[in-house]
Amino acid sequence: MPGIYILGIESSCDETAAAVVRSGEQLISNVVASQIATHQPYGGVVPELASREHLRAIVPVVRQALSEANQTYKSVDAIAVTRGPGLAGALLVGISYAKALSYALDKPLIAVNHLEGHIHAVLLEERQKGNHDLQFPVLALVVSGGHTHLYLAQRRGNLWTYENIGHTRDDAAGEAFDKVAKLLGLGYPGGPVIDRLAPHGDPHAVKFLPAQIKHRDRRDHRKEREHSGKEKEKLGQDLAKDKTYDKDKEELQARRADSDRPHFDFSFSGIKTAVLRYVEVHSLRDSIERRRRALTAIPKPTLEDYLANCDRQALDLIASFQRAVVEDLIGKTLVAARAYEAATLFVTGGVAANSELRSTFEQAGAQEGIPVFFPSRSLSTDNAAMIAAAAYPKFLANDFAAMDFSAEANLVLR
Ligand code: KG4
Ligand code: ZN
Repeated sequence: MPGIYILGIESSCDETAAAVVRSGEQLISNVVASQIATHQPYGGVVPELASREHLRAIVPVVRQALSEANQTYKSVDAIAVTRGPGLAGALLVGISYAKALSYALDKPLIAVNHLEGHIHAVLLEERQKGNHDLQFPVLALVVSGGHTHLYLAQRRGNLWTYENIGHTRDDAAGEAFDKVAKLLGLGYPGGPVIDRLAPHGDPHAVKFLPAQIKHRDRRDHRKEREHSGKEKEKLGQDLAKDKTYDKDKEELQARRADSDRPHFDFSFSGIKTAVLRYVEVHSLRDSIERRRRALTAIPKPTLEDYLANCDRQALDLIASFQRAVVEDLIGKTLVAARAYEAATLFVTGGVAANSELRSTFEQAGAQEGIPVFFPSRSLSTDNAAMIAAAAYPKFLANDFAAMDFSAEANLVLR
């Protein structure tokens, strides 16, 4: 079939992934090699082990993605790779391999921001369903193990621009799921397990106070104003100094305008501490330890195994925790959507796979009269199809990467 075939490569965290996507709208192959088994004993991702596993997996994963797509190294039109954010050592494995392929095959190389990839996973999903009609501005909630961000997205020609209008001040939402699951002896990663157990508990049993999901932006207005006053002053000085580069000047002006706009920040470390306090006050340590040992002894625990090892109190705590996080994510996103008059909502990233988040967001969006789009569950968590999809507009705009670019662990999305 005619079109532009882009090979995407993703290695920013604990998944080695490769995919082929046609013209940003048709997923041809999507291979993900998960490292969960490697990191499980440690209850979280160990960066050195992640790099080693990527090195082991990258070549076979790319080969599989090409062969499942009936493509070859020579037949694809471009190679796209995640530049950041992520673990530097892990990113470098994908980048080095993508550069080697691009150089040896004489194919264009496209560097993609991982967060833009998550946003384009939604677009890929919608285009596959034949939905090409999207209203802007789009407000995208990117919610994963490493990130909780709100981006206001606009399209200029083929390219997209993003304004960050909120982010987590401490833990990402997925990190809170993982830490709470670990604390309750449920293993790693926590999100999928909590998702499956929550419907078996009472979400109203444990009350988490609003202060436990802090709203620092609202609590600390005076400090924020002082901070933004100083920032504006500094931007003013930067602007006055900068007479040469119009593009930089434009960016500084945009930053100055941004600092006046409302922000909707998140915080999830308080709820994790509240769960810990609940465990202490209700003396749950021994039962948690028994659960942890029992589940560790089962190679692949099923839902029945988890349920057999969770009493009512644990299930109620799990359901209440999930409900509190879901309500906070949705509540803040909707307030931001109203403030910025968003026409469309995207919810993406690993936590977007959560069943309660999806169904509650859909209801809330319908009430609010704003369409809400998610990727399928397999495109919500890390994958390379989203990288190949995000690369397509860059391909059309000839926005190619030079051979000397490197991994950027803290790459910002603009
Ligand atoms: O997007 P992702 O695969 O990697 C990052 O970019 O971080 O997200 C992984 C995160 C983990 O924290 C995992 O626990 C969470 O997404 N997650 C979920 C679910 N599936 C994955 N959280 C809640 N419910 C789920 N069903
Ligand atoms: Zn991710």
